[in-house]
Amino acid sequence: MAQAAAELAQFAPFHLMVDATGALTFGAQGPEKSLQALHAPHMLKNMAVNAVGPTLLFKHLMPLLDTQQRTVYAKLSARVGSIGDNHKGGWYSYRASKAALNMLLQTAAIEANRKRPMLVVAALQPGTVASALSQPFVASGALQPDTSVSGLLKTLDGLPAIAGAHFVDYQGVPIPW
Ligand SMILES: NC(=O)c1ccc[n+]([C@@H]2O[C@H](COP(=O)([O-])OP(=O)(O)OC[C@H]3O[C@@H](n4cnc5c(N)ncnc54)[C@H](OP(=O)(O)O)[C@@H]3O)[C@@H](O)[C@H]2O)c1
Repeated sequence: MAQAAAELAQFAPFHLMVDATGALTFGAQGPEKSLQALHAPHMLKNMAVNAVGPTLLFKHLMPLLDTQQRTVYAKLSARVGSIGDNHKGGWYSYRASKAALNMLLQTAAIEANRKRPMLVVAALQPGTVASALSQPFVASGALQPDTSVSGLLKTLDGLPAIAGAHFVDYQGVPIPW
């Protein structure tokens, strides 16, 4: 990540960065449906890929964002990372890793706002989108990626810079943390 940031520095300053990484399935292990299915290595992989990695990426890339103009750092999160919106249970590690991601983004956004008051930080819910990640779990009716992306970009255009992160979906609707 440090090396990638060093190579990108020649193109700085940036005004929009979107981190769209994430994983729901690791090898043959998909999301857990029950407490009895929990397995420490799988839980830790979720945390590493969905929470730790993206936060370290933000750490390395944030210095490349412009300080003189409005800038946006967006990370694909997931509605299932909302604690307030969790009415169904299941998907333990993925949910927990996205909740951890949201907390890390919120904490980083508060700190960043002190020196970068024009920086917008957003945790995004893209909708249920047809992709390699969702394919094993969605029978039909998933959004096409271009529909999700155009909604997300429109949403990002309308978000104000605040002393914290936004948690919002591709239609611009805020999601409870
Ligand atoms: N699809 C949905 O319905 C949905 C719903 C809610 C939230 N999301 C979130 O949206 C984001 C994008 O998901 P997607 O549906 O586009 O899934 P995807 O098609 O599987 O894309 C995931 C991306 O993450 C990268 N990635 C995975 N593990 C990585 C690792 N260890 N290190 C670096 N990169 C890694 C993959 O890179 P490679 O291509 O190199 O493997 C890929 O580019 C994720 O954060 C996901 O949680 C998706």
